[in-house]
Amino acid sequence: MADPLRILFLSAEVAPFAKTGGLGDIGGSLPKALHAMGHDVRVVMPAYRKIEEGYPGVSSMPLQLNVPTGSGVINAGAFEGRLPGSDVPVYFIAEYGLFARPNIYGYWDDPYRFAFFSKAALHLTLQLDWRPDVVHAHDWHTAPALAWLHTAGQSDERFRGIGSVFTIHNLAHQGKTNWNVFDYMQLFTHSLNEEGYGEVNFMARGIYHANIINTVSPTYAREIMTREGGAGLDGLLRHRQRDLHGILNGLDYDEWDPATDPRLAAPYSLDDMAARDENRRALQAAVGLPQLDNIPILGMVTRLDWQKGMDIVGHALHLLMNGYSGPAQFVVLGTGASHYEDMFRQMAGYHREKMSAYIGYHAELAPLIYAGSDIFLMPSLFEPCGLGQMIAMRYGSVPIVRATGGLADTVQDGITGTTFYDFNADALFNAIQRATYTYNTDRESWRRIQANGMATNFSWERSAQGYQQLYTWALAQMHYHG
Ligand code: ADP
Ligand code: GLC
Repeated sequence: MADPLRILFLSAEVAPFAKTGGLGDIGGSLPKALHAMGHDVRVVMPAYRKIEEGYPGVSSMPLQLNVPTGSGVINAGAFEGRLPGSDVPVYFIAEYGLFARPNIYGYWDDPYRFAFFSKAALHLTLQLDWRPDVVHAHDWHTAPALAWLHTAGQSDERFRGIGSVFTIHNLAHQGKTNWNVFDYMQLFTHSLNEEGYGEVNFMARGIYHANIINTVSPTYAREIMTREGGAGLDGLLRHRQRDLHGILNGLDYDEWDPATDPRLAAPYSLDDMAARDENRRALQAAVGLPQLDNIPILGMVTRLDWQKGMDIVGHALHLLMNGYSGPAQFVVLGTGASHYEDMFRQMAGYHREKMSAYIGYHAELAPLIYAGSDIFLMPSLFEPCGLGQMIAMRYGSVPIVRATGGLADTVQDGITGTTFYDFNADALFNAIQRATYTYNTDRESWRRIQANGMATNFSWERSAQGYQQLYTWALAQMHYHG
C-alpha cells in the first residue's frame, strides 16, 4: 500500500447529516473507502440546523475557532461525530446565524457563508494540531479553501506545502459573487478571465488554484472542455487539461444493497428475486396505485431541475399515460423548481389510476422506488455522474438514460439498460417504447438485462484508488513548485 495520507475532506453535503443529491452520497461514502485503504481522512462540513438541534452521535467540541476575516475576528464553535458505521471523524463548523437555517442553500449570502466555512475549516486543523497532506474540496462551496491555501496560505508556514484536489460535481453551480468576498477572506489575488469586472467565481477559482482537478465521470470530464458543455469555463478547463481527470463515483454498498436494505418491504438478491415482487406491491400500496402485476412500473427519483431533462419528460409522460406504449404505471419522487412540481402534480391528478407524484424529499420512499419499479428514467440534459441509475441497476430497475456524462459511462444499451441520444421527447419516448416492448414481449431478455445491471460492480474500491493517485500527484506538484 502507498504511504498513508492525511486528507482534509471538505463538503457542503455529507450523508446522512445533510443531503440534497449525489454530493451528499459522495461526502458520506468516499471518505469511508479512503479510510479503509489506510488513510487518515477527516471530513468537515457546516453545522446546519439539524446538527445544532441535536443529532444522535454528534457532540459539541470544547474549542473556539477565532477566524480572522476582513470584518474582524469571528468566533465559531465545532461539533464532532463519525460517519455512521465507521471511525471517520466528521467535524461541523458551527456559526448559528450563518448555518442553522431551514435549508442548506438558497440564500443571498451563500458565497459568504461558504467562504467563512472554508476558512474556518482550515483553522480547525490548527486547533486539532493535525496538518493535512492534502485538502480535497468539492464543488464551489469549498473552493474558497483552495483559493486561500494557494494564495494567502503560502505566506503562512503552517499551511505552506499542503497539496490540493478539487472535485467538480456540477459545473452548473459556480458560486458567483462580488470581489468584497476576497477582502472578507483577507485574500489578495488578481482577476481571472472568467470573472467579470469586480466579480468572483468560486468554481473557476477551484479549477484555477487546485493542484489537481477531477470530475465524477470520464465522459463529463471531456464534455466540460467543450464550448457546449463548459458552462463558460471550458477555456480554463482546457488550459488545465493535463491536470483534469474523470473518476466515476461509487456507491456506498453499506447503504445500497437490496439484500440488507432495512427500508425495503422484503430483501432480495440476484439469486433470489421472488421477493422483488413484494417490493413492487409495497410500492404500489405506498403511492396509492392499483396493485396490478405484469405491467411495467416506471419510476423517477430526482431533483426537479432542468439538468435532469424535465423539459422532455412532460410530453413523453403524456404519451405513456395515454397508453401509446401499452399499459403502464408511473411514480415520481422529487422536489425542486415549482413549475416542474406543478407539472407532475397536475398530471398525477389527471391520471390517478396510473400515476403518482410524491413532491418532496423522502429518504425512505426512494429505496422502495428503486426496488419496486421495473424501469428507471433518467433523461438528463447533462449528468456529471448520476447515482440514481447505478442504484436502480443494483436494485434491478432497468434504466432508460440519455447517453451523456456519467450516464453514458455506466449504462450499456441493450445490455444493462436503454440509452438514447437526442435531447427531445420523441427520442425519449422511443426509448420508453423499446424498453416496454422488451418487458412486455420478451421476459427472458428482460431478466437478463436486469441481472446484468444487478451484477455490475459499482463499489468504491476502484475509484478510491483513483483518488489516491490524484492525492499523490497533488503532493508531487507541491514538492516541485511549492
Ligand atoms: P444529483 O446529485 O444531480 O441530484 P445523483 O443521481 O447523483 O443526482 O444523486 C441523487 C441522489 O439523491 C440519489 O441518492 C437519489 O436517490 C437522491 N434523491 C434525489 N431526490 C430525492 C428525493 N426527492 N427524495 C429522496 N432522495 C432523493
Ligand atoms: C452532482 C451531479 C451528479 C453526481 C453528483 C455526485 O450533483 O449532478 O451527476 O452524481 O454530483 O458526484
